[in-house]
Amino acid sequence: MKRVVVLISGAGRNLQALVDAERDGRLPRCLAGVISSRADAAGLQRASAAGLPAQVITPGVFADRAAFDAALVRQIDAWRADWVVLAGFMRILTPGFTAHYAGRLLNIHPSLLPRHPGLRTHAAVRAAGDTQHGATVHFVTEALDGGPRIIQGALMVRPEDTDETLAERVMVDVEQRIYPQAVAWAVNGRLAVQGAHVAALDGQALHQPLSLDDLEAGF
Ligand code: GAR
Repeated sequence: MKRVVVLISGAGRNLQALVDAERDGRLPRCLAGVISSRADAAGLQRASAAGLPAQVITPGVFADRAAFDAALVRQIDAWRADWVVLAGFMRILTPGFTAHYAGRLLNIHPSLLPRHPGLRTHAAVRAAGDTQHGATVHFVTEALDGGPRIIQGALMVRPEDTDETLAERVMVDVEQRIYPQAVAWAVNGRLAVQGAHVAALDGQALHQPLSLDDLEAGF
């Protein structure tokens, strides 16, 4: 059994999607623990309701980012993680951390990367007048939101969309579908990084990320 540690900072709806997927068999049993960077993260209740071990590690008590990341590494390694899954973890990780978990560190980002890295992506999409939006699962490297992309789900932006309606549709229609699938590929040994820059599924390089259509086609 592969072991997955999930890092959160907030509501934990992506964590919930992983818990639900594990429960109904879309994801093999793999969730080994949850770390939150905030003591008040609602995701901690989800972890507890799912019976998952959880730890709060807040950056404020550490001298610098390296010390914070070292504390994360100690807990993740104590849980013997094979994969580390960032699910709304709102901290920038040091190169030392990303190197330690190179090739086994995943993130979900609420945009069609490489468009709109960083924060407030839903507002950025509307400000840019984009007609499409979505979310991307990618390997994490030291390039912020720039690691090899695995799967991306897109939806059409509607004229009446607000930041909130967009965020909700991206979460429910895209994020909660693509992340459990990508984590299942990871723990089933199907996912890897080829060279330093390209993700691969079943040994096939993903020069473009997979899409929701590919999921429906049964990847
Ligand atoms: C999600 O939309 C996730 O994609 C985003 O934060 C939200 C967390 O929600 N992540 C980032 O912006 C990372 N830079 P959740 O806690 O309910 O899963």
